[in-house]
Amino acid sequence: MSHCLLLEGLSEIYTAQGTCADREATSVRAVRNGAILVSDGAIAKVGPREEVLAVTPADAERVDMGGKTAVPCFVDPHTHLVWGGDRSDEFNRRLHGATYVDIAKGGGGIKSTVRHTREASREDLAARAKKTLDTMLLHGVGTIEAKSGYGLDADSELKQLDVMDQLSESHPVEMHQTFLGAHEVPPEYQGNPGGYIDYLNAELLPRVAERGTVRYVDIFCEKGVFELEDSRRHMQRALDLGFQLRMHVDELFPLGGAGLAAELGAVSGDHLVHASKRDMRAMADAGTFATMLPGTSFFLRGQYADAAAFMDAGCTLALSTDYNPGSSHTVSQALMMALACMNLGMTFEQSFVGVTLNAADSLGQAHRIGSLEEGKIADIAFLDAPSAMYLVYFWGINHVTDVLKEGRFAVRNRAICY
Ligand code: NIG
Ligand code: FE
Repeated sequence: MSHCLLLEGLSEIYTAQGTCADREATSVRAVRNGAILVSDGAIAKVGPREEVLAVTPADAERVDMGGKTAVPCFVDPHTHLVWGGDRSDEFNRRLHGATYVDIAKGGGGIKSTVRHTREASREDLAARAKKTLDTMLLHGVGTIEAKSGYGLDADSELKQLDVMDQLSESHPVEMHQTFLGAHEVPPEYQGNPGGYIDYLNAELLPRVAERGTVRYVDIFCEKGVFELEDSRRHMQRALDLGFQLRMHVDELFPLGGAGLAAELGAVSGDHLVHASKRDMRAMADAGTFATMLPGTSFFLRGQYADAAAFMDAGCTLALSTDYNPGSSHTVSQALMMALACMNLGMTFEQSFVGVTLNAADSLGQAHRIGSLEEGKIADIAFLDAPSAMYLVYFWGINHVTDVLKEGRFAVRNRAICY
């Protein structure tokens, strides 16, 4: 017997529409006084209350949402989920004038998180990451991409992936895994990034491929870390092993990584603060998503990517937190919408599709999630707000009070209940 749940008393239902990214954000619609019928974990009907009531079975469970707003759960397509340690001290040093690059050169930054992640037990890493996933859920995030990259050796990278496997099984937030072994040059290969890439290509990447749970490979393609030739070699090896690519490119310096992402047919190029106009056009031609990470620009007090130029070039934009301990320590996709509207020059609608439908499509999931439409999975975030606009208009607030995950409440009245 199918279980039907009717969610009524919604002051607004706000969603994009479609099964692929909406580049221009023209599909976004608001329904006032709507209702949503959920059956067996999927959306059976969504729209004006009367239309939904007309098809609601008499024995459906009915929940009055008391004037809340419904939006699709956010999708976060770039997170560094699993790590140990703490870099709040480093954050304060930055406030006193040190730069991210200075700190990295002094053995801090990613290297410091690598030391702590190597030392941490699997259990401790899993407990920490579970807490982060709970915080994400409380902020309306239903699906994430999650990267390894704080181990930089076989044992510690595989330990991070084990934690992701474990949490994929046990936690309601849906996870799509990325291997980021080339996040930084490990101490064992200091001054020899090419040697480390040789090692990854020959030893570790094939082992990761065997697991069958990792879809993407990523690299920190950056001046002084992995430059273009090493990046091309590693990414080509990943393609040969059947992975898809997501790439950290042109974050701190204009190296041409965005062009490389396009050349290799990467699913997404991320950061892109220093991408050239030519590389933007190449990304558009290749169908490579431009994933904007405005939280990183904010937290590093740096330059923002030129979102308008990416749109003019014909790129499809997604938005992400880049959740990590150093350059963007937040899980709030609503805050990314606010930063996108205020600092990337995006409209509210563009920012909204950036954290929902477009982010879902960049993970190949827009046929299942990313919008509130019949047949899609019932991943719904409810806001204690009269309209979705409050996500940005009343900024810095977590408006999410309830989250339905695959048709079941995983958050109710701001408390985890899965
Ligand atoms: O996406 N740029 C490289 N990686 C992360 C930062 C990671 C860290 O500082 O720990 C990023 O910004
Ligand atoms: Fe990142």
